[in-house]
Amino acid sequence: MSAFRNNAIILHMSENEKKCRHVAIIMDGNGRWAKAQGKPRTAGHLVGADNVRTIAIAASELGIEYLTLYAFSTENWKRSQDEVNYIMKLPSYFFGKYMKEFIDRGYRMRMLGELDRLPAETKRVLDDAVEQSKTNTGLNLSIAINYGSQREIVLAAERYAKDVQDGKIGLDITNEQFASYLMTSDMPDVDLLIRTSGELRISNYLLWQIAYAELEFVPEAWPDFTPDVLKRCVEQFGKRDRRYGGIKYE
Ligand code: FPP
Repeated sequence: MSAFRNNAIILHMSENEKKCRHVAIIMDGNGRWAKAQGKPRTAGHLVGADNVRTIAIAASELGIEYLTLYAFSTENWKRSQDEVNYIMKLPSYFFGKYMKEFIDRGYRMRMLGELDRLPAETKRVLDDAVEQSKTNTGLNLSIAINYGSQREIVLAAERYAKDVQDGKIGLDITNEQFASYLMTSDMPDVDLLIRTSGELRISNYLLWQIAYAELEFVPEAWPDFTPDVLKRCVEQFGKRDRRYGGIKYE
């Protein structure tokens, strides 16, 4: 929300804009973490999967409403068949171990990505987690799997074009209307994007949704990303001056 005074735009940030409602994390560094310990890369993914539970609980306790984690990108299919197969079995391990606890905690599971292209059993487990938790009102825990943001935007554009063709919507739409065609349609934009393991890239993650996100790049690999590190990131977020392109007027 903004108002004009002396030609400067004064931002009146709502409580929601100041609050860190939606945190997205690029969980990087599992492979290097495992190699540094003389273990196969897959050992890092296993510890990484368990860390999803730890960080989900920490996020919920910090008052974060949406936690969106990048588990597998549309580009990750280029990895070795063994590694891809291993990652595709992780949802079964993960939800088998933690789903009951997540239900008890009131978490709602969501998936972002083209699930139809996943192995049938992987898709079944993910669909089941979403279905079982769809009425929950606690933390929204989203897993991006076979997800790529450019693909998401192309799919949204296709669906929008189809609606125009069918006469359901006009050509002059708002950003918000276009966003309703994205996989995150009923979620707020990302407030804070974190990438672990020291890499300084976005890697085709939530490109639309991070338009005004604050960014944190931390040196810790994902298996070493603790609740304390998350807390530190959220504290950093609290110190940022979010202006959404406007000018802060004192
Ligand atoms: C990136 O590290 C990590 C991945 C591609 C896989 C992430 C998956 C998980 C943490 C588990 C997913 C959990 C669920 C619930 C499905 P990397 O392998 O690219 O690490 P590197 O950069 O050191 O090679």
